[in-house]
Amino acid sequence: MIAVLSSARHALIAGIVLAVVAVVAAIAADGVDRLGLISFLLRATHVVAAMVWVGMIWFVNFVQHAAVTGADDAGRGTLMRLVVPNVAWIFRHASHLVLLSGVLLMLPTGYLLGNWVFGAPVYMSLAKSLLMWGAVAGAVAMWAFVHMFIWPNLQVVLGLRPGNADAKAAARAKVALYARANLLLAVPVTVLMVAAAHLF
Ligand code: HEM
Repeated sequence: MIAVLSSARHALIAGIVLAVVAVVAAIAADGVDRLGLISFLLRATHVVAAMVWVGMIWFVNFVQHAAVTGADDAGRGTLMRLVVPNVAWIFRHASHLVLLSGVLLMLPTGYLLGNWVFGAPVYMSLAKSLLMWGAVAGAVAMWAFVHMFIWPNLQVVLGLRPGNADAKAAARAKVALYARANLLLAVPVTVLMVAAAHLF
């Protein structure tokens, strides 16, 4: 137990092993068809990646922003060196994984190319389709905000791209603005996706 809790990496690996053992035992007991398994694996990947991305959005807006704003110059320098780049790396890659797993999940759930996957058109009520496509639109906007506005401006703030003090201040304001836009969209996107999957 102590070895498992000796580092975050070990704890995470142990958690993944626990999840895999439980799922494999359930499949061994009841079985699962190929499409069901693919759908489950994509859904699990999607939800865990979304959890990490939205967790980072929460952290940036409610913890990191206040810490960076309130810190003195030395403290801000430490945050910019040791915290902000790691947070940015995690949410950038989590956002790619959410988008990729989400697009692939559209296939076994029948939203895209149903005819091809199931050999017949998949009936989708208007409400379910609207919930799903509304959520997808919001999620794609969130992904675009990260890669078109947040990351390029954060690179200026971190000194990875050139910029004087004014450019850095403007870039910092843009990062904060789009981080808030992502926070605004995170809850409706998550709720609409859960509703599309479970409401009907
Ligand atoms: C911030 C971004 C996103 C978040 C937080 C998010 C979250 C979720 C959650 C929580 C579920 C419900 C899983 C379940 O309960 O079974 C879900 C389902 C799903 N998501 Fe996303 N998602 C995001 C982006 C996307 C994107 C960009 C796509 C596709 C392009 C996508 C496609 C799907 C699909 C196809 C489902 C399954 C719906 C169903 O079973 O009817 N998601 N998502």
